[in-house]
Amino acid sequence: MPTPTPDTQAVRSWVADATAAPSMHNAQPWLFRYTGDSGELLLRMDPDRTMPRTDPSARGLHIGCGAALFNLRVAAARTGWDAHVRLLPEVEAPAELAVVTFVPAGAQDGIAALYPAIAKRHTSREPFTDETVPQAVLDGLSGAALAEGARLTFPGAWQVQAMLDLVWDAGHEEQLSPEVREEIARWTGTGAEEATGQGVPSSAFGPRRYDGRAPVRDFAGNRPVEGRRSAVFEQTPCLAVLGTSEDGPRDWLLAGQAMERVLLQATLDGLSTSLNSQALEWPELRWAMRDPQSTTGYPQMVIRLGYGPEVRPTPRRPVSDVFDVV
Ligand SMILES: Cc1cc2nc3c(=O)[nH]c(=O)nc-3n(C[C@H](O)[C@H](O)[C@H](O)COP(=O)(O)O)c2cc1C
Repeated sequence: MPTPTPDTQAVRSWVADATAAPSMHNAQPWLFRYTGDSGELLLRMDPDRTMPRTDPSARGLHIGCGAALFNLRVAAARTGWDAHVRLLPEVEAPAELAVVTFVPAGAQDGIAALYPAIAKRHTSREPFTDETVPQAVLDGLSGAALAEGARLTFPGAWQVQAMLDLVWDAGHEEQLSPEVREEIARWTGTGAEEATGQGVPSSAFGPRRYDGRAPVRDFAGNRPVEGRRSAVFEQTPCLAVLGTSEDGPRDWLLAGQAMERVLLQATLDGLSTSLNSQALEWPELRWAMRDPQSTTGYPQMVIRLGYGPEVRPTPRRPVSDVFDVV
C-alpha cells in the first residue's frame, strides 16, 4: 500500500503556522514548495530577504527559517502527522534549507502540546517585572533546547552585566555605521508594515529606556517616534544564551528549531520573551559573548525571559506569497 501523503490544504495550514515564527527584522525569509505527488515540502530561503549588512553570513536567516520549521513540525504533530526533516538536502543548492516529508503518527508527539503557543508568542520589547523565574521553569527550557540538540545556559549576575555592556557596544557600532542604520531603517518603523505584511512596526518598538542599559534593542535609533513613552527596564534581566557546538548552516537551522521550542515552552509557562542578536552581529562582540566556562560553544541567540504585559502580534505576509504547490 502506498504511504499516505497529507493533502494540500493541511500542508497550507501548517505553513501558515510556520510563518508565525520570529525572523530577523520580521523579514520572513522563507519559501515553501509542496510537491503533491511525492508529498515533499521544500523549504528554501528567499534571496530577496537577506541582510547583507547585519547578517552577511545569513546565520540569522537560517535561525528564522529553523524557527519556522519547528512551528511546522508542531502544527503537523497536532493533526497527527510526524514531520521528518532532512536538513540541507543538496550541497550544490545552498538556498534549499530542508525537505520535509510526513508520516501518519500513531500517537501525538510531545511537541503537539506546544501548538497553542504558536499564535500567542510575540517578541516583547516592554520592561519585565523583577519577579524571579523559578528554577524549575528554567530547567524545563534548557531541556527544550537540549531536545533539539542545542544548549541553553543562564549566565550569572556579573556575566549578565557584561552581556548588557556588549549589547550597548553593539548599539554604538550600529549608530556609527550608516549602512547598518540604513538596513535597519528599511525593515523597521517604515509605516508600511501593515500594508506589506513585513517588518517591525514602530508600535512594537516598546518604550525608550529611561536610563541605564536596557536588555532590548532600540530599533528607533535616533529616529523620532511619535507618542513613544520612556520606561525603566528590569535591573537584573533574566537572559539566556542559546548555543551550538558547531557553527555552520546546519547548526543555525538546528539553533532556530531549538530557539522556537524554547520560546513556545516559555510562552506556555506564562513568560514573555524577546530576542537579541545585536552583539552577535559583530564578530568580535560575538566572541566576547561566549562563556569560556560553559559548554555553550557558539552563541546563536540571546533570549530574554520574564513576566510582562501582553503585546500585539506583528504583521505577516499572506501564505499565498510564501507557499506554492507543484
Ligand atoms: C535571528 C533573529 C534575530 C533577532 N534579533 C533581534 C534583536 O536583536 N532585537 C529584537 O528586538 N528582536 C530580534 N529578533 C526578533 C524579531 O525582530 C521578531 O521576531 C520579528 O520582528 C517578528 O516579531 P514577533 O517575534 O513578535 O513575531 C530577532 C529574530 C531572529 C529570528
